[in-house]
Amino acid sequence: MTLRITPLSDALGSEVVGVDFSKPVSVSDFQRIRSELTDRLVLVVRDQNLTPAQLVATVQMFGEIMPQHLSEMLMPEHPDIAVLDSRNVQPGPDGRIMPVGSRAWHTDHTNHAMPPKFTVLYAVSLPQTGGDTSFANMQRAYARLTDNERKELVNLRTLNKIEDHSYVSDADRSRFGERQSHPLIRTHPDTGRKGIYLHPGKTESIEGMTPEDSRVFVDQLLDKTIVPEVIYRHHWLTGDLIIWDNRGVSHRAHADYDLSAGRVMHRVLVRGEVPF
Ligand SMILES: [Fe+2]
Repeated sequence: MTLRITPLSDALGSEVVGVDFSKPVSVSDFQRIRSELTDRLVLVVRDQNLTPAQLVATVQMFGEIMPQHLSEMLMPEHPDIAVLDSRNVQPGPDGRIMPVGSRAWHTDHTNHAMPPKFTVLYAVSLPQTGGDTSFANMQRAYARLTDNERKELVNLRTLNKIEDHSYVSDADRSRFGERQSHPLIRTHPDTGRKGIYLHPGKTESIEGMTPEDSRVFVDQLLDKTIVPEVIYRHHWLTGDLIIWDNRGVSHRAHADYDLSAGRVMHRVLVRGEVPF
């Protein structure tokens, strides 16, 4: 099997074929995959057929696995894996039924002091149509700003909290509910590239602004910078394994499919560092 890596868009993302993560991967192949991830921020690894144990072992090649805060979604025999199943989505406080990750562009788990560096999603079952995931290169989004705009943003910090979604239990809320402050502009520790780092749903405020002003500010910033030139939209195939770098990427799920059809993803997180 020969490893082949091909860009998926100008903005970010590469497709990886010719690797089978259910078997040992050579050091040289893994080095190519790992450095591509640093450079392109999103990898789509095709044609995987992984048991939960093999998925966990695959993710461990990229770093230490981080516990997830949605306790009810964890696979009982493999609690490192969250099962995101569209059939189990409950209405939110506003009565809307929105699958996990479909409300807005975001980076994952900013209510943690050390949010995950990578998120891995493995496509187990997909709807006939719809259910894409879009990714935005937030380093390119940042680069679209003027020098003056960057100067205004560079010292701002976000105050993050866990959301009020029905799928967050009271126990998880008290365990992971402590507010966390993160830089709005984050420097990638491996490349030194700066990017916009935001989870709008978890941002209670920009420090020094009211929550209302913060919401307007965040919406305007994302509207201005997440433009088609920085986006890759992924249409899933069963067996796709995607790993993305939360330190430089925002993502959103498209809730444009029949939820009862059962879109099932297995999600694993890789522990990150304190953002700076
Ligand atoms: Fe997410």
